[in-house]
Amino acid sequence: MTEYDYLIVGSGLFGATFAYEAAKRGKRVKVIEKRDHIAGNIYTKEQDGIQVHQYGAHIFHTSDKDIWDYVQQFAEFNRYTNSPVANYKGELYNLPFNMNTFNKLWGVVTPAEAKAKIDEQKAAANLSAGEPKNLEEQAISLIGTDIYTKLIKGYTEKQWGQKATDLPAFIIRRLPVRYTFDNNYFNDTYQGIPIGGYTQIVEKMLANELIDVETGVDFFDHKDEYLLDYPRVVFTGMIDQFFDYQLGELQYRSLHFETEEMDVDNYQGNAVINYTDAETPYTRVIEHKHFEFGKGDKNKTIVTREYPATWHRGDEPYYPVNNKTNNDLYTQYRDLAKNQPKVLFGGRLGMYRYYDMHQVIHAALTAVNQEFNK
Ligand code: FDA
Repeated sequence: MTEYDYLIVGSGLFGATFAYEAAKRGKRVKVIEKRDHIAGNIYTKEQDGIQVHQYGAHIFHTSDKDIWDYVQQFAEFNRYTNSPVANYKGELYNLPFNMNTFNKLWGVVTPAEAKAKIDEQKAAANLSAGEPKNLEEQAISLIGTDIYTKLIKGYTEKQWGQKATDLPAFIIRRLPVRYTFDNNYFNDTYQGIPIGGYTQIVEKMLANELIDVETGVDFFDHKDEYLLDYPRVVFTGMIDQFFDYQLGELQYRSLHFETEEMDVDNYQGNAVINYTDAETPYTRVIEHKHFEFGKGDKNKTIVTREYPATWHRGDEPYYPVNNKTNNDLYTQYRDLAKNQPKVLFGGRLGMYRYYDMHQVIHAALTAVNQEFNK
């Protein structure tokens, strides 16, 4: 038997929050992490004085004051506001769809003119009667043909690796449309980027002397021993892998990141630019220094191109594909998990759910409450 009360598998935001809270309650915690660094997908690393988001752009946003206050314990946040720009074959448009976008597209000046234009396009689209049959019909029924063609179609098809006419309508339930000149992507009350990057948050969470961390250790190399030795295991890896894929594989979308250091101060003038045409193979280009208002080396910048990819076993599983088939399969895995009373499954992979950072902290704090108020 071990001296630890908990084994936490995965040092992402879920595992780190749980570890921090358990140690605060006097529990001894061992964290194992298969990557060679902590912090999971929120990991940032400094290069040329610039915090590089190693696993894609991460912007913290929430309307939950408790979560916002909670995360402030571990970092000071700047006032970054996410205002991505779309590049469609060299034409630039503000996102989310708002009066700036509509003015650039059609020259309309008032909200009434913009609404009339969208309504006119919806009516002219000749959509089939009843419920939209696929993503294309759904998007056009919400926003009309021009925005669909230039700003949604190519991007979405690249993201999912499928034609919009083969994708289910439910992927786009609502579209953020604003009839104001407001380029702020999120509607949340609080938003920002931790000054000095995200990794410090997890470092501080894991700094308690009751917590030991080992990186480069894969749970599956010693699964049986771990389950025997530790009184309680918090597992934030893939739930289907935990059960050796015995009911079949859950589907994910993967990503491939290509990062380049350039000898210029400012490459694209914005942190996030989406490439919305079908031909450009990447979906987004991130220029990291703009998350911190140009901080870092004045003669250098770091950009990352994000390429969507099909997931195969062994690849990084970035996004769960939450269609009915996968959700049903996940429910079956969750039933199997009930026969593992020692193990708490958490986080985006353990619960097979897309979680934003504030949601994963909330989920971890809920799990902590249930764990310690039993
Ligand atoms: P996470 O994946 O971070 O951590 C799990 C850890 O477990 C990993 O470090 C993994 O290596 C480890 N692990 C897995 N299996 C293991 C094993 N067998 N043994 C040992 N270790 C194992 N959110 C947001 O709020 N704003 C944003 O802008 C974005 N942007 C964004 C971009 C992209 C491209 C993605 C994919 C995601 C986002 N997110 C986001 C979501 C955010 O990344 C997410 O909420 C958290 O990282 C989830 O934390 P978890 O701890 O659940 O998983």
